[in-house]
Formats: sequence, structure tokens, C-alpha cells
Amino acid sequence: MGGIIIKVNIKTQYKASANRHWKKLDKLSKSASTDTIENYFLKDTERVSKYSIALKELYVDFSKNLISDEIFRELNYLAATSPLLERRDSMFKGELINLSECRSVLHTALRDPAFQDKNISEQIATQLDKVTKIAGQVRSGEWIGSQGQIINNIVNIGIGGSDIGPKMACEALKEFAHPRLKLYFISNLDDEPIRSLLNRLDPRSTLFVISSKTFTTQETIINTQVAVDWIEEKLGITDPLNSPHFVAITASPKLAIKHGVAPDQILEFWEWVGGRFSLWSSAGFAICLCIGPDNFRRFLAGAKKADEHFQHTPLKENLPVQLALISIWYNNFLHVQSNAIVPYCERLSHLPSFLQQLEMESNGKRVDIDGLPIDYDSASVTWGQTGTNAQHAFFQMLHQGTCYVPVDFIGIAKDSLSEAKQHRMLLANMLAQGAALMSGSHHDDSFRDYPGNRPSTTFILDELTPETLGLFISVHEHRVFCEGAIWNINSFDQWGVELGKQLTLELLEKGVTPTFDASTSSLFKRLNTTVD
Ligand code: F6P
Repeated sequence: MGGIIIKVNIKTQYKASANRHWKKLDKLSKSASTDTIENYFLKDTERVSKYSIALKELYVDFSKNLISDEIFRELNYLAATSPLLERRDSMFKGELINLSECRSVLHTALRDPAFQDKNISEQIATQLDKVTKIAGQVRSGEWIGSQGQIINNIVNIGIGGSDIGPKMACEALKEFAHPRLKLYFISNLDDEPIRSLLNRLDPRSTLFVISSKTFTTQETIINTQVAVDWIEEKLGITDPLNSPHFVAITASPKLAIKHGVAPDQILEFWEWVGGRFSLWSSAGFAICLCIGPDNFRRFLAGAKKADEHFQHTPLKENLPVQLALISIWYNNFLHVQSNAIVPYCERLSHLPSFLQQLEMESNGKRVDIDGLPIDYDSASVTWGQTGTNAQHAFFQMLHQGTCYVPVDFIGIAKDSLSEAKQHRMLLANMLAQGAALMSGSHHDDSFRDYPGNRPSTTFILDELTPETLGLFISVHEHRVFCEGAIWNINSFDQWGVELGKQLTLELLEKGVTPTFDASTSSLFKRLNTTVD
């Protein structure tokens, strides 16, 4: 645990569905279908100000949701009488809240220079210094390849949290990117992406960043081997992992050293940083390379603003709490288990996948924190794509399909990379879609009829900067945490991904054994016959 003093202090044995406010909400949901969002606005001219929160450079309007004042009140009682507040405090203190893995959850300490545990705080500072130092050397041209060339290409090899977060942030913050450095992200076991990338790169000016918390992940280890072989062949180096062409990022430094990585080229993080929450740690090295150390610190500082808000704001004005309650209302009471993420900014194109992992890997659970089955639904299916592309793909269903999907619209008020007129058009599209979903349009011709009453939440960032991205991501981390705490599940483990990994190894090592069903056996045989 890197020296942390662990205290198990969290109360478990809570059943969300036995909470009296849960029961009241269940009752309210039966009559909710007779209400319309438009009626809520007609009855209450103050609705927008009541159902919106401004947090620094982020403004969120959640008034276009199927939530009446009474529902809102009960949802807030539910939050107040759930383990949420107690668990929030335990998380920030570093108590052991990830019970099934016996770990603390301290990604928030990564952005808190004044974190209370001096030992942890020093370790974080040491690694951050190392990250910023190496990033600075690469950016300035001081870090040179084995043949004396400066580095122009960075290839981040990692998957899941060791890929999506850094990839999402580097794309989102391209306005701040170093003009010389080109960043590439390799994740999939599919061999084609890395082969075709390497065909285009000059090995003399390429740095591979091997990012894996465990340093055992199959995809990352295999892609690393491809990169190692390539450097060895092209540059005639016998131990490439020990050359300036490789930096490793991991919470298992011993394993990285065993693979042959030079110890001073290892950037560490810790088991108390979950993979999907790791972009603030050394795992965010690619971000630091891309936007530079000062901007990376601004990114951390933006996230810290949301941490402070989450810790110190009363529930009713607490943005992550309110967002979690909206999601719980749809999920558990209206039984709508889908949530579309539609950013109106092409630089946020990886945001839907980032939020997908955050929500679905964290909260896709069927037992509570004590391991007992839950009798209510957990994570929503989170998906999406940038607008306006999405409008020409799946919005037909959102407007006229038989089921409805709550949409999160994300817009950037001032975009210095876009021409003003075009940017206005983009944002007009976003607002128009939210209005159309809610108000609909009645038509005698049923093909042209829009039922309306379809909910959405609109997020507006003043600008897209390291601070505002940090703030936005941190709000969503806490939103996911609040959902998990109200559902009384462990949002920080991911045992569900293990079985598939095990069976893959079994297939590779032993072929189809009697463990496998008839369909998988027959598919395996067909694939093998095709290979032969
Ligand atoms: O398989 C899921 C997972 O464990 C994610 O939680 C994680 O982000 C990803 O794999 C990568 O793991 P690692 O960083 O250890 O290679």
C-alpha cells in the first residue's frame, strides 16, 4: 500500500431497495408517466434556475428531465439516507473502501498536493516530478534516441484505463499539443494497427510508452514485443527495453524490470489508483508529453476543483450527486438503462468511450459491497458519438423510436479553434436537438409526428482547456462513485473481466477442452481448419 495506514471503517449491510425513500420513489414512478417535462416548465417559471448548477467553468442544465419537485426531493432524501456521505469521506481519507480487492481508492490524492498522508503525498510528488522531468526532456529534444535523433513520435501501448483516458485527453487538448510530437495509441490485440503504424514511423525518433498497471495484460505485452522486435531489427539494439526508445508506466515495477526495462525509465503508480481513474497518475504521461508539464498540472488542478465541490457542497447543490440521482431515477424507477453521450466538439470524440468504461466497468455489478445479490439494476449502458455526426446516425431512434434514451449534450461555449459562425451553427444544432427531444411536434401524419417528452441534460464548458477538462472528468468520476454508493456496490473492482481472460488462455494452451460448450468447440474447430 505504499505505506498508507489502512482503517476499515465503512458501514456495509445497507439495502438500497429497503430504504423508505426508494419505496416512495417506486410509488412516484407509477404516476410519473402522466407528467410531461413541458408541463413542469409551465407550472414553474423558476425551473431552469432550480435545476441547473454552475461549477466554476462548467454549467449544467438538468431541467429537461422527467423529474418533478416531489421526485427531486425524494431522490435527495435517498442520497442523504444512503451510505454516500460516509463513503465519500472514507474515500478521501484513504480508508479501505474497495473491499473485494482490499484497497483504498485514492485517485483524488493525485490532484491534491496537500494530501494528509505525508508518505503517500511524497510518493505522488516524486513520481509527478519524474513524469514532468522526462516529458520536459522529450519535448525540449534533450531526450535523444539511441542514434542521436530527437524524439518526434510517441507510441502509447496500453489498453482500457491505460489507453482510453490518455487518448481522450490528448485528442481533447490538441490545441495545447507540442507542435513536433506526434502521439499514437496502440491498444488492440489485432496486429494490423501496430504493424501499419510501424511501417510509417522512423525508429530512430520513436519513443514507446508501455503503460500497464499490472504489467501482465496480454494485449500490452504482445504489442510491446512487436515494438521491441522492431527496434531490435531496425536499430540493431540487443536490449531495446533498456534503451531510450522505451519508458514503462506501471504499479508493478518489479515485473517491468523483469521484462528488461531500465529502472530509471519506469514511472510508477500504485494499486490504490484504479485503471480507469489512472490518467491523473504516471499513466497520464502521454498527456504530459502532449500538453506539457504546466498544462498537465492545470489539468490536475481542474480536477481538484471538482473534488473540493464534491466534498464540501450540500447535497442539493452538489453536481456529481445530482447527476447520479438523475441516472438512478431513470435506471431504477423508470427502468431506462441507456444513456447517450453526445459531445458537440469533434475533439471530444473519445469521451463516450471514456465515460463508457468509467460507468460500465465501475458499476456493472450484480452484488453489493458485502457480496450479496442486489434486487435492482446498476450501471446504464453508456454509449454515444459526437454531434452533429450522431444526428445523422442514431437520432432518428432518439426522436421517434419506441423507447427513449436520456441524452447528455456537451457543448463548448467559446472554441478558439473554430470559426465563430460555424461554431454558432454547431451549438445551435445541439440546442435544437435538446428542444426537439423535449417538445416534439405534433402532426396528423404519424410519420411526421414527434412525441417529445424525451429527456436530456446539457453540459456547457466555457472553453476546452486542461482545467475545464480536468473539472469535467472529475465530476463524472464522482457521479459514478455516488451511483455506486447509493446502490451500495463496489465501484472499484472489475472481477467480471477475468473469466474471459482465463478461457482465452485455456483455448490457447489446451484447445477446446470439455469445459467448452458445443457451439464454442465447433467455432474453434472451424477457425482452426481455416487456418490450416
Ligand atoms: O481488463 C480490464 C482492465 O483490468 C481495466 O480495468 C484496466 O484499465 C485494463 O484492464 C488494463 O490493465 P493494465 O493497466 O493492468 O494493463
